[in-house]
Amino acid sequence: MRRVVFNQKGGVGKTTIVCNLAAIAASRGLRTLVLDLDSQCNATQYLLGDAAASGEGTIGDFFEGTLSFSLQSRGLDPFLVATQTNGLYVLPGDPALEHLQPKLESRQKIYKLRQALDKLKGFDAVYIDTPPALNFYSRSALIAADRVLIPFDCDDFARQALYVLLDNIAELRADHNEELEVDGIVANQFQHRAKLPQRIVQDLVDEGLPVLSTRLGPSVKVRESHEQGKPLIALEPKHKITEQFTALFEELDHG
Ligand SMILES: Nc1ncnc2c1ncn2[C@@H]1O[C@H](COP(=O)(O)OP(=O)(O)OP(=O)(O)O)[C@@H](O)[C@H]1O
Ligand SMILES: [Mg+2]
Repeated sequence: MRRVVFNQKGGVGKTTIVCNLAAIAASRGLRTLVLDLDSQCNATQYLLGDAAASGEGTIGDFFEGTLSFSLQSRGLDPFLVATQTNGLYVLPGDPALEHLQPKLESRQKIYKLRQALDKLKGFDAVYIDTPPALNFYSRSALIAADRVLIPFDCDDFARQALYVLLDNIAELRADHNEELEVDGIVANQFQHRAKLPQRIVQDLVDEGLPVLSTRLGPSVKVRESHEQGKPLIALEPKHKITEQFTALFEELDHG
């Protein structure tokens, strides 16, 4: 299973969701990889903490290799880093993704990630974190993945962006990756007592959009978890927000 978590809108919870679902997968004995395609490297920082800076290789090195014929065949293996969580690995992000992007685009390397993941052996689950833009990297991820999960932060601007996003995914699916399935839209930071977010999400459901039934509430534990570099399942295994992430995991993979 290869799941990309994508929304071109920033700050909707992509990184938080990728890292926490991946940590839950690993806690269930699945050998799991997080691929950080965002030049902000938030997922890498979250999962590796200060060890992130001393990493031996990054996703930037992988993409740079695709520009050099002699390095092309190395694949992803040399760049994988084990995290503190048993069974959870990360392919670190890289600020260099920014300046590599035009070269990768002009040399048409959009299928390289998919090809490299096809060759990668030994992982039961791959979670891909994306930047807040429909750019070379998020397109590469949508081409490489078999599922896409869309976080939604329940405001009205986010709703407009959602229609554009679903159109973009449909186009990309038709042109490049017919196997891509939309897992659904997950409402994040959903305040179940507030009327506006409730109405916005209900409108989406009424319009027939694939809204998942699990909702992730707002919780201060999320920021604590980022700060301590510990996924929620490790930091607060019994907390309500952890239960919500676990419910999301179950809904996605066994629902
Ligand atoms: N359920 C939640 N409860 C409380 N805070 C949250 C929750 N989800 C995300 N956040 C906070 O919102 C901010 C954005 O989350 P996150 O970095 O996961 O979003 P993102 O979509 O990856 O952002 P970007 O588009 O910049 O990559 C972070 O500060 C995070 O701690
Ligand atoms: Mg992010």
